[in-house]
Amino acid sequence: MASSSAEVLAELPLHYRTPESWAFRALENPESLLNDHAHLEKKAATNALELICRWPHGETPDYWVRALTSMAAEESDHLRRVSRFMMKHGFSLSRHHKNPYAGALHALVRRGEGRAELADRLYVAALIEARSCERFLALSCGSRALNDGPSLIQEMGGLYSDLLESEVGHYHAFLRLARELRPEQHQSDWQGWLEQESRIIQEQSYYPGILSGTRDL
Ligand SMILES: [Fe+2]
Ligand SMILES: [Fe+2]
Repeated sequence: MASSSAEVLAELPLHYRTPESWAFRALENPESLLNDHAHLEKKAATNALELICRWPHGETPDYWVRALTSMAAEESDHLRRVSRFMMKHGFSLSRHHKNPYAGALHALVRRGEGRAELADRLYVAALIEARSCERFLALSCGSRALNDGPSLIQEMGGLYSDLLESEVGHYHAFLRLARELRPEQHQSDWQGWLEQESRIIQEQSYYPGILSGTRDL
């Protein structure tokens, strides 16, 4: 990894930091955590593919297609890795999955407003990536702290650490795409989204999933 964990964490602009206890609790339920994670990778791949055709007007620029097809390919590869990891440990992928955190963020997107709607969709994607990075780091550090824990937990720590650099890249890519779309509104829009995200993650309930809330932790 290019940067240390501490550097990655310091660069994330999230207004709320997840307490350490979140990772220890999540690691108590590896099957649910991995299943949730696999579904999130699938949704990330689908979202990147879906954004390709959302350019608001005129010809879709090459840089847009290039960035989103790369992200879709990487997220599909993450899904491949996580699902193989699950199979290796005798876990199977559920048919259904809920993501109340992403649902609450998507509910705030300004619909039918061209560039503003698209920028909002990109901010939501950037926040999901940033919060996922924070949680991957917490899980990787948490698994190291449990150094006499089961080998599955140690292996999971390695998996989260391996995926981190790619997810940091996605966070930067979505934020850059949003900034380029509406440069003048970027600072105020992004700060507004960061505040909303901080409220949502603290208001929502805990469950063994990467993007779970911390209200009743
Ligand atoms: Fe991913
Ligand atoms: Fe990602």
